[in-house]
Amino acid sequence: MSYETILYEKKDKVGIITLNRPDALNALNSQVFSDLYAVITEVENDNEVNAVIITGSGEKAFAAGTDIKEMETLNCNGAREFALGVKKTLDKIETLKKPVIAAINGFALGGGCELAMACDLRIGSEKAKLGQPEINLAVIPGAGGTQRLVRLVGSSIAKGILFTGKIINAETSLTIGLLNSVVPPEELMDEAMKTASIIASKSTVIMGLLKDVVNTGRNLDLPSALAYEIEIFGQCFATEDQKEGFKAFIEKRDPEFKGE
Ligand code: CAA
Repeated sequence: MSYETILYEKKDKVGIITLNRPDALNALNSQVFSDLYAVITEVENDNEVNAVIITGSGEKAFAAGTDIKEMETLNCNGAREFALGVKKTLDKIETLKKPVIAAINGFALGGGCELAMACDLRIGSEKAKLGQPEINLAVIPGAGGTQRLVRLVGSSIAKGILFTGKIINAETSLTIGLLNSVVPPEELMDEAMKTASIIASKSTVIMGLLKDVVNTGRNLDLPSALAYEIEIFGQCFATEDQKEGFKAFIEKRDPEFKGE
């Protein structure tokens, strides 16, 4: 299927989504979120894709935010509706049973940073620049920036980023844990593909459970989260892949997972 504002290709069990509005620094408008929702649904139903990379087209940006020009004339209800639409797409990415990697090739600001934070891993080029500059526009982040950023880097550092609206570079983003790794720009997609391919080679059924336990557990108190982990640990033993994984180890061979 083809999409209006994004490009999509498949390579070795990895789906690669490229935000494709380079003239607007890949600003995220309603059409982008609708296309992203549709492509994630396609990935969800595609047994040939086990991991996903999201990146931005052009040299400068992953995404420089939600589209300020589209949002300018919104009233209160319109703004809430817009944010609910964005949330629907970001929730879809976060709950997709296949890991999603943001390959951040430049500006990831506002909604762009929020999109990256809804992904599971964030790999940055040395040119990556992240931030939540909404305060400069006299709004607050409306796509999870006040919540996911706090959970990722802690409230003290998050408040520094949110309250100043400052853009932080790749090195600082790595230091505070907002990025998983940083590589030279020309190596970004290779690095993202390398990580995605490792992930794609694992048992898909167990990977889905693993992602769910980490995400669900984050929203529970520790005793409940640990109990949930044990419940899902038990469920792993109902799968064919668990049996194959253990058998292959004992027989000193590579496992052949079927995702069942
Ligand atoms: N929305 C719409 N258009 C945008 C955009 C955005 N978020 N960011 C950049 N653009 C457009 C510019 O308007 C410009 O278009 P024109 O050529 O038609 O004028 C084009 O992209 C190139 O941008 P610049 O000329 O500004 O490029 P630059 O290199 O001088 O600056 C930048 C780069 C610092 C990223 C600057 O573009 C910028 O500050 N962008 C806005 C960043 C921002 O505030 N993001 C948060 C948006 S609000 C949000 O995301 C809310 C939410 O949480 C839901």
